[in-house]
Amino acid sequence: MDFVSKMKELAKSDLKKIVLPEGNEERNLKAAEIIHSEKIAEVILVGNREEIETNAKKFGANIQGITIEDPATSERTKGYAEGLYELRKKKGVTQSMAENIVLDPMYFATMMVKNDDAHGMVSGAVHTTGDLLRPGLQIIKTAPGISVVSSFFIMLLKDKSFGEDGQMLFADCAVNPNPNADELAAIAVATAESAKRLMKFDPKVAMLSFSSYGSAKHELVTKVVEATKKAQEMRPDFMIDGELQLDAAIVESVGKKKAASSPVAGKANVLVFPDLQAGNIGYKLVERLAGADAIGPICQGFAKPINDLSRGCSVEDIVNVVAITAVQAQNA
Ligand code: ACO
Repeated sequence: MDFVSKMKELAKSDLKKIVLPEGNEERNLKAAEIIHSEKIAEVILVGNREEIETNAKKFGANIQGITIEDPATSERTKGYAEGLYELRKKKGVTQSMAENIVLDPMYFATMMVKNDDAHGMVSGAVHTTGDLLRPGLQIIKTAPGISVVSSFFIMLLKDKSFGEDGQMLFADCAVNPNPNADELAAIAVATAESAKRLMKFDPKVAMLSFSSYGSAKHELVTKVVEATKKAQEMRPDFMIDGELQLDAAIVESVGKKKAASSPVAGKANVLVFPDLQAGNIGYKLVERLAGADAIGPICQGFAKPINDLSRGCSVEDIVNVVAITAVQAQNA
């Protein structure tokens, strides 16, 4: 069974409530019909009720039996405004500001997850990554013991000799523009944990750089060296090593030459990029030039699962990310 089918089967085994704040949008409506009819999750659409119903008819999506939450009329809105005010008053949010903010479907849906009225949230067909992350960071915040929210892509490669039978995790490709050594270490540990929990494989984490085992000296390399040390100290039970160049990390013969004593070189299945420029460019190169499927970005480190979509996503992408979010909710 392929990875996505596995996620769908897992999601079906313990139904979770997943909220879609872009409830009036064509792909979301079509995805909601599939998620509901295939019983992948209990889907909740947030938005203007009339608009959702009109658009569902217009786009031929059958949303019968699917819950709609309209922030303008929902009985939850008042409580959410109070909750948001309490959470953000120290940051200058007044009561009347909070009442306005929760009318925004992105904030309303985030409050649903915060209040356990939904187990997870997926958006991004219309909104940017920042539009999803900001309410998440402000309201849901990080899980206990986690300092940094980050993200990973599940890369499904054509060449099955790489990674774990062609599956690899790339991080962070979507959230932290320029992590310091502490943050990079936290990203490495979180991604190793995601590999274990979600992908069910033993992580071999390569901390990527333009240097392998001291071959180059530069402050950018020093950051990766420090992050590697910190990550190893945080989780000595995980196989995390660096600094490694990409070829040393994934090609056995090169790994043997450049970092012979490394337990990860040549067999990495988790790649941790030094910053967002490298990570974002890196996953897109592999997707476009090597024809890999890139699933994500999947967020990690939030207290509850919320996930992003690309604005170019398909209906199928939404269904898939909802299934993964539901499985993350099961594992939470
Ligand atoms: N982990 C934990 N907390 C964080 C993080 C993080 N990574 N980043 C910010 N925070 C906290 C802040 O401390 C702040 O907390 P507070 O308000 O309680 O004090 C809160 O989250 C909000 O922070 P802001 O300063 O308002 O948000 P910021 O301007 O830092 O934006 C964001 C955060 C949205 C994640 C920003 O870093 C960003 O835009 N990242 C890049 C997203 C992007 O464009 N990705 C590329 C495209 S995606 C793709 O191609 C697939």
